[in-house]
Amino acid sequence: MISEFYKDMTGKGSVIREFFAYSMERAKVVGSENVYNFSLGNPSVPAPENFTKAMENLLANEEPVHLHGYSPTLGIDSTRKAIADSLNRRFGMNYGPEHIFPTTGAAGALSHAMRCVVKEGDEVITFAPYFPEYIPYVNGTGATLKVVPADTSSFQINFEEFEKMMNEKVSAVLINSPNNPSGIVYTTQTIDRLAEILLRKQEEYGHEIFLISDEPYREIIFAGADAPFISAHYDNSICCYSFSKSLSIPGERLGYVAVNPKAKDAEYIVPMCGQISRFTGHNCPPSIIQLAVERVIDETSDLSIYETNKNLLYKALTDIGYKCVEPNGTFYMFPQSLIPDANEFCWRAAKEFDLILVPGDSFECKGHFRIAYCVQTEMIEKAIPLFKKLYDLYC
Ligand SMILES: Cc1ncc(COP(=O)(O)O)c(C=O)c1O
Repeated sequence: MISEFYKDMTGKGSVIREFFAYSMERAKVVGSENVYNFSLGNPSVPAPENFTKAMENLLANEEPVHLHGYSPTLGIDSTRKAIADSLNRRFGMNYGPEHIFPTTGAAGALSHAMRCVVKEGDEVITFAPYFPEYIPYVNGTGATLKVVPADTSSFQINFEEFEKMMNEKVSAVLINSPNNPSGIVYTTQTIDRLAEILLRKQEEYGHEIFLISDEPYREIIFAGADAPFISAHYDNSICCYSFSKSLSIPGERLGYVAVNPKAKDAEYIVPMCGQISRFTGHNCPPSIIQLAVERVIDETSDLSIYETNKNLLYKALTDIGYKCVEPNGTFYMFPQSLIPDANEFCWRAAKEFDLILVPGDSFECKGHFRIAYCVQTEMIEKAIPLFKKLYDLYC
């Protein structure tokens, strides 16, 4: 008999995918150049040339049986060392290879980190708006995800609500900065205040509260942003990273867990990830991708287009009259919907103007919509008059 649990989930498709599917259907009718698809967070710039060269060199020069062989369960030693050294150089940390566990993107990192420090019956707190995949990552441990409502004036943390929701069952707090969907980066002041509360609550409850930090957009930070390296501010922390956006290789599936060397029981966490992967069937990302990324560890794609797009779109939308907190990272923007029902608003934008947006309800933050502006700048230029027409329908 098949599992009713997973069968039930199949009926509940993601709204983001629904809008994306609609955009594909429309593209068949009106041509893809006439559909303004802002629904998906797929990077729009190529991987760095050196990444392609590293792949070519590996294929041309490495002994194939070795190159295509199994990765060790905890990842390739030289890759783990390259990641640790890079973090230490850039952020003044003290990681060793033993603190690094290569994963299939941030998704793999989050689900492993979660299982290391969260058990059945626990609570995990996150902050709206948040990436909807957090629900299965947390539910997979038997814990419950609790969501602090957004501070929509800044999209920093709503500390008053957070403190009210803290209780003895909370074993982990999950944050995402720079944030999908708001585009906001948590400031040093925010992170320090969060750390201060967690330290106080650890003392009060007599157990650790881990800070799991989801950082796939760490390299996409705009001019003037205060963007602290989060793990430097709180010892019981686990950083979950991905090369999907920084190197524009989401399909290659590489990320990592980096366990703060100062965390309680730090020495057990990576070996535990190795054990967890036996349950998830994860068994490490492909060897060739680990080796190629190791060779370009301090590089990124040319990410400047995202800031160009943000500047253009933010100015145009706010000039039209949309209300939006200005993003200082990622490639997302999260303006207020022009009617309370953002779902209805986004469907109207799609049906009348082929503007494919995503309602904030998907991120547990109603009354907003997400624009993923990881697209060519020309598409934004062409879409701006449509955003104006959409605005004129309501205001
Ligand atoms: C906030 C956030 N976390 C995690 C992920 C998963 O990243 P990856 O594709 O590297 O698994 C994404 C992907 O878009 C994301 O936006």
